[in-house]
Amino acid sequence: MSVELRPVTAENWEALIKLQVREDQRGFVASNVYSIAEAQFGFEDEGHWDFYPFGVYADGEPVGFLMYCLNFAHSRFQGFVIRLMVDERFQGKGYGRAAMEQALEILRADERILQVGISYEPHNKAAQALYASLGFVEPGELMDGETLAILKLR
Ligand SMILES: CC(C)(COP(=O)(O)OP(=O)(O)OC[C@H]1O[C@@H](n2cnc3c(N)ncnc32)[C@H](O)[C@@H]1OP(=O)(O)O)[C@@H](O)C(=O)NCCC(=O)NCCS
Repeated sequence: MSVELRPVTAENWEALIKLQVREDQRGFVASNVYSIAEAQFGFEDEGHWDFYPFGVYADGEPVGFLMYCLNFAHSRFQGFVIRLMVDERFQGKGYGRAAMEQALEILRADERILQVGISYEPHNKAAQALYASLGFVEPGELMDGETLAILKLR
């Protein structure tokens, strides 16, 4: 299996907005069309966060979406994985884990990023187990109603 992150472009955004999670998972993640719109503007918190949206491709086929954002001036985490989804047809095949590993590889390569944050709905056990297995630790606080977890890179 070959999994890669490809930046969202004029060529692939329409294929990516067709990807969907299961109906019972819709409360866990925003739609990809929302994320791609959000990515145009970034947001302000201790300076400006820039968004980097990607399609997750398995053997050349779009199977999911991942987006991180960066703010090197932030005191607590300089990278944040703000979105991850794998389409309902492709879940449970290792694509979510592979996408996260690739994103973390990119973030780890940047010396300005000391810590990476992530958050998830408190009852999203699949996400919690995945992130914990990658080394994310919960400091025991909520961020906008979601459980916060942090990965120390350096
Ligand atoms: C969470 C999600 C991205 C995982 O992607 P995936 O491709 O299905 O996951 P993988 O096959 O790579 O599995 C990775 C890990 O996720 C966890 N996991 C996946 N499905 C799970 C399930 N049904 N129950 C419990 N844990 C599960 C396991 O820890 C698994 O580890 P393993 O490799 O030891 O089996 C995917 O299920 C999804 O899109 N869910 C809906 C949206 C969502 O919750 N996004 C995260 C928002 S923070």
